[in-house]
Amino acid sequence: MSDTIAIRLEDVSKTFGRRKYRVPAVREISLSVAAGQVYGFLGPNGAGKTTTIRMIMDLIRPSAGALFVYGRNVHSDHTVLQRVGALVEGAAFYPFLTGRKNLEVLARTGNHYDAARIQTMLDQVGLADRADRQVKGYSTGMKQRLGLAAALLHDPDLVILDEPTNGLDPAGIQEMRTFIRDLAQKQGKTVFLSSHLLGEVEQVCDRVAIINKGQIIREGIVADLLAAQTQLVVEAEPVDRATAVLTPHWPVTANEKTITVLVARDEAPAVVQTLVAHEVAVYQVRRERQSLEQFFLEVTGRES
Ligand SMILES: Nc1ncnc2c1ncn2[C@@H]1O[C@H](COP(=O)(O)OP(=O)(O)OP(=O)(O)O)[C@@H](O)[C@H]1O
Ligand SMILES: [Mg+2]
Repeated sequence: MSDTIAIRLEDVSKTFGRRKYRVPAVREISLSVAAGQVYGFLGPNGAGKTTTIRMIMDLIRPSAGALFVYGRNVHSDHTVLQRVGALVEGAAFYPFLTGRKNLEVLARTGNHYDAARIQTMLDQVGLADRADRQVKGYSTGMKQRLGLAAALLHDPDLVILDEPTNGLDPAGIQEMRTFIRDLAQKQGKTVFLSSHLLGEVEQVCDRVAIINKGQIIREGIVADLLAAQTQLVVEAEPVDRATAVLTPHWPVTANEKTITVLVARDEAPAVVQTLVAHEVAVYQVRRERQSLEQFFLEVTGRES
């Protein structure tokens, strides 16, 4: 049994509905998540993130392909899912029970009841002071925290989080980020998280797969993906002439006083030469790393 690869997807597809109601939600996705990583699954609304996570958890079946957790098929060998804790969209709790009671019910169902462990988890997710109130009075963020406590209660090796910062305020988002990094770095867990928030993935994840319309369009180490994408910001005058002379050669965006040119580092001199040759005055040239946001808009826009 392989413990080095936490999640492996082989040509997984999922189509909902029939005939004219057919929705190809996930299309031939393959990916591997190495144990110990924080892996981001990044995509806009409707990209297929939740659908993929539900298939990993064997909550729905793929239309084609196979999904493995620690080398075992999640459907035919689903006891392996005992090693997984998940926070999936719309986690359901008993509204008339308190947060603590809900965790107790879960723990008893899973046969791992331990009052001290429940208290520790409530403390860790920052819910201790609200633990003895009914869940129906919880805010979205509090429910999200309770969901996280529920996911971690049985001390899983692999933690799957579907949009973990949904409904959290800025302070809660920051806490969640630290929490997720600690899960990997201090507790040695593997984390697979989905998000449509680029900053989140950029700050927390080691690797990322970018998914759009059910397909993975990029995959790799976050820093590498971004390093490949840099741009030149040129302060030039007149801006409209600068834009006109560069546009046939490179992707250019004009701003008020500057233009942004998407080029590799070794093409920077050619950009400047072109400008000078067309009598554009160049006042400043600087290189900027593209943010994951720009990168994401570019790849999802271009390939959709
Ligand atoms: N049970 C279902 N029946 C029909 N279509 C579905 C079902 N579940 C999901 N879909 C469709 O599959 C596509 C992918 O949905 P999914 O929920 O996986 O996206 P997502 O990436 O999680 O989006 P979000 O960021 O909004 O949560 C969407 O077009 C959605 O409408
Ligand atoms: Mg979703």
